[in-house]
Amino acid sequence: MAPEDEADELLAASLGDEALLESLVLRRVAGEPLAWVTGSVGFLGCRVRVTPGVYVPRWQTEALVRRAIELLPEDGLAADLCTGSGAVAMALARARPKARVVATELDPVACRCAAGNGVEVFAGHLADPLPVELRGHFDVVIGVVPYVPTEAFAYLPRDVREFEPLLALDGGLGGTRLLEQAVWASTTLLHLDGVLLLEVGGEQDEALREVLEGAGYGVLRRHQDDEGDLRGIEAKFGRQLPGTVRDNGTGGAQ
Ligand SMILES: C[S@@+](CC[C@H](N)C(=O)[O-])C[C@H]1O[C@@H](n2cnc3c(N)ncnc32)[C@H](O)[C@@H]1O
Repeated sequence: MAPEDEADELLAASLGDEALLESLVLRRVAGEPLAWVTGSVGFLGCRVRVTPGVYVPRWQTEALVRRAIELLPEDGLAADLCTGSGAVAMALARARPKARVVATELDPVACRCAAGNGVEVFAGHLADPLPVELRGHFDVVIGVVPYVPTEAFAYLPRDVREFEPLLALDGGLGGTRLLEQAVWASTTLLHLDGVLLLEVGGEQDEALREVLEGAGYGVLRRHQDDEGDLRGIEAKFGRQLPGTVRDNGTGGAQ
């Protein structure tokens, strides 16, 4: 965000109180994420409250969520795995008010944050805490799970490294540990035409190809940003036999 815009947000958050403004500016200068300092961030038209300690939703995620909205029927059922502040679930629910959108989250602080944002959040690991009666009925499962390769941590911006929680970022060696688990977890949720959307980076689509195939996913679509960087993958469940996963190589979803 441009410095002028950050300054405007800090000014607005201070509500005209000069002492408060000074303390907010000091926190920001020390590197604390802007959303923690002001208390919220905009995400796909939603104002998302973000408690200090909770991962700040990124605008780069918005394109994948737009795609999830396209795929979610008016009265459909969606799951947002690893919801953090609940931003993804909020945007889905806002766009599809008749649909049911449930979410999961491991970190109790983030769980409270998501619940405070009006999200139906279940505490626990990936799909584990979701009600048994919903399994096999989901139209869409979306996950912005931790996918930063442990070996890439040194290259993250200082603010991210020093402030944002490791639990939200660390995807293990290669960054695919949670992604692989999310692939398998989603097979217990989706119906036989449902779609899995995962935020990924680098060449993680290649690393996930085999596990997707083994888990019974069909056509794999890559979502790239305007620079051509991989941002997400989309995979349809249960339509094809193992061995038929292919990449249609499409560009960005939007
Ligand atoms: C990269 S953040 C994404 C948060 C949110 N989806 C967003 O885009 O703003 C990943 C989130 O996953 C949570 N998390 C980490 N491991 C988890 C697990 N095994 N099960 C559920 N949530 C987990 C973290 O606490 C964090 O809130």
